[in-house]
Amino acid sequence: MDAKEYLMKASKELDGPIRQYIGDEEPSDLIAASRQYPYAGGKRMRPAMALAAAGAVGGDRMKAMPLAVAIEYIHNFTLVHDDFMDGDEQRRGMTTIHIAYNVPTAILAGDALFAKAFQIISGMDVPDSSMRNILKYVSQAVWDLARGQQMDINNERKIVSEEVYIETIRLKTSVLFAAAAAGGALAGGADERTVQAVHEYAMALGLGFQIFDDYLGIAGDPAKTGKSVGNDIRKGKCTVMVTHAIRNIKDPKVLEEFKSILGNADATDDQTARARSIMEDAGSIAYGRRLAKEKVDEAISKLSILPHSEEKDFMIALAKYAIDREV
Ligand code: IPE
Ligand code: IPE
Ligand code: MG
Ligand code: MG
Repeated sequence: MDAKEYLMKASKELDGPIRQYIGDEEPSDLIAASRQYPYAGGKRMRPAMALAAAGAVGGDRMKAMPLAVAIEYIHNFTLVHDDFMDGDEQRRGMTTIHIAYNVPTAILAGDALFAKAFQIISGMDVPDSSMRNILKYVSQAVWDLARGQQMDINNERKIVSEEVYIETIRLKTSVLFAAAAAGGALAGGADERTVQAVHEYAMALGLGFQIFDDYLGIAGDPAKTGKSVGNDIRKGKCTVMVTHAIRNIKDPKVLEEFKSILGNADATDDQTARARSIMEDAGSIAYGRRLAKEKVDEAISKLSILPHSEEKDFMIALAKYAIDREV
């Protein structure tokens, strides 16, 4: 199973529904700003996961379509706000909303997408008890995501432990994947044990995904990722690779040099590249990739409860893709 191919197919399926819910209302600048990320489309891993989970538990994938759109809107809402919080200028190869428009419009576009997501869920064709559970997972995810994003900001320019970092990414990243998978399974009519298993799958996948994303933020190609590279170093984001480096750089002079680049907002591209190479020498990049792989293996093991299906195959392939991608 080729995850990329399946993702592209799912993305095409999602195109229409994603465009269906934001009408031509006023003010047109808010509407245009709200549409920018969803219409441009990123990888759409979360909505594809929601659809696949519904199918993998033996249900109708289409029952999960509104949830899939809602999850992608929520994801995009968090990206709009995240780009302002992180001071990033590029996303999906385009100028970020707070710069292309302005900060108030970015705040409102995020809020608008957030509201629309819950409106869409309220119209789902599922039994009331499933709807309640879906709402429970999704609302909890957004709450946790806010906590995770605050922790991420609080951690800037600080050396935090790997445990604190993992908890941060569990909250800022994994919980939304988990809501997509559990919600999709619920829409597909899964029993509680199965919902729990796919929830755990997505939680672990999310950790691997974010660890690898941090790697791309250091070593990725901006022409491919469509995002700025090196900014995590400038902001002093304490990823697992950074904590590993701090613990493992042997030469005190090199450690000093590394610390002087980390969190330096004015660091040049050469300096961030130097920080990357120091981390490479300390084995920190390899360590991050190893840890991401462990999480993905754990994710895949959770799916043993599911019978064989194309959707299950995709969920397995998606977990592998999360830590083996250029975008
Ligand atoms: C970016 O998520 C934000 C993170 C949680 C790292 P994606 O990498 O899924 O972004 P898109 O949706 O494909 O653009
Ligand atoms: C992802 O966090 C954003 C959310 C989880 C909301 P990052 O700030 O690490 O991701 P990118 O690199 O901007 O996509
Ligand atoms: Mg960011
Ligand atoms: Mg961020």
